[in-house]
Amino acid sequence: MALDQFLTTLDGLLEDAHSSLERVGTAEALEEFRVKYTGAKSGALKSVQKMLGSIDVKDKPAAGKRFNQVRDRIEELIAQAALRLGGESAPKSSGPLLDPTLPGLRPRIGTVHPITQTLEHLKEIMGRLGFNVTEGPEIEDQWHNFVALNIPEDHPARDPLDNFYLATAKSLSPPSTGSGEAPAERLLRSQTSTVQIRVMEKEALPLRIISLGRVYRPDAPDATHFPMFHQMEGLWVDRNVTMAQLKSVLRLFATSYLGGDVNIRFRPSFFPFTEPSVEVDYWWNGQWIEFGGAGMVDPNVFQAVGIDPEAWSGFAFGLGVERLCMRRFGITDIRDLYRSDVRFLRQFAT
Ligand code: PHE
Repeated sequence: MALDQFLTTLDGLLEDAHSSLERVGTAEALEEFRVKYTGAKSGALKSVQKMLGSIDVKDKPAAGKRFNQVRDRIEELIAQAALRLGGESAPKSSGPLLDPTLPGLRPRIGTVHPITQTLEHLKEIMGRLGFNVTEGPEIEDQWHNFVALNIPEDHPARDPLDNFYLATAKSLSPPSTGSGEAPAERLLRSQTSTVQIRVMEKEALPLRIISLGRVYRPDAPDATHFPMFHQMEGLWVDRNVTMAQLKSVLRLFATSYLGGDVNIRFRPSFFPFTEPSVEVDYWWNGQWIEFGGAGMVDPNVFQAVGIDPEAWSGFAFGLGVERLCMRRFGITDIRDLYRSDVRFLRQFAT
């Protein structure tokens, strides 16, 4: 049906309605009128509405809009006539506003964020390997984020440009000269290795823990960087812990998490708190991908927390949780994880 024709039909209907309403003199007649025009089954409006189906798609919005106007107008006319004919007894509405027999709609509920799903999955796998879950604070002091981890005062890792230091009363006042006091500034932790120190300070040996949580670095966001991300830290301290065990644990972990028999590669590296230190790569989907760092706990770290490095040994590792999550779910831009766009997040509903 052509748009013109449809609009003409509508206008005709409205005109008819006008003139026949003028002749309506009783509440009964008004009810008859109401049924004739707005009846849900065979009212005149209903039959015109059916014609909407045969209107060209591009004209539908215009046709629908006009239809709604005419319908509203007729309903208004009925309401006015009802008032004129004696208020109370007149029909209050021209049709049911709410149909209580329709089935209910289940409200949309949220889904577990893919990072949260990953954290749970990692805890479960590492739990099976005998690692207990511990937590540490996100606001840290210099001791736990640097000093005890063998990161000296002049180390570039402490650069204010690479860390989120918190403004304190002290850091906001002009520097006092030659006081020689230890720095008291706090910062958002830049790594979960802080938890290694916290655990060794208070727990009895031997110990085998993981700690998962947020870390913060002032990186400009792009597809692979975000100023906040998550790490999984692992620490195993016992009498005779070896690098071979480290490799086995990381390989077993990857095999469980990524699936299949995952190959692992250690590349020599440097971290102040491990010696020797390595970067950990996994062979996945045809390429080597770096997932984090690891190594044998440095004797200086043991000494900082009062553990005898001659009697005890240990390994530590830190893996990037976003990387693990993104690989598994096929996510290519880390920023998508933190846009809070439910259309994206709902795809990972379990
Ligand atoms: N903390 C290191 C990082 O953030 C990773 C690491 C953890 C390396 C434990 C060695 C041992 O890059």
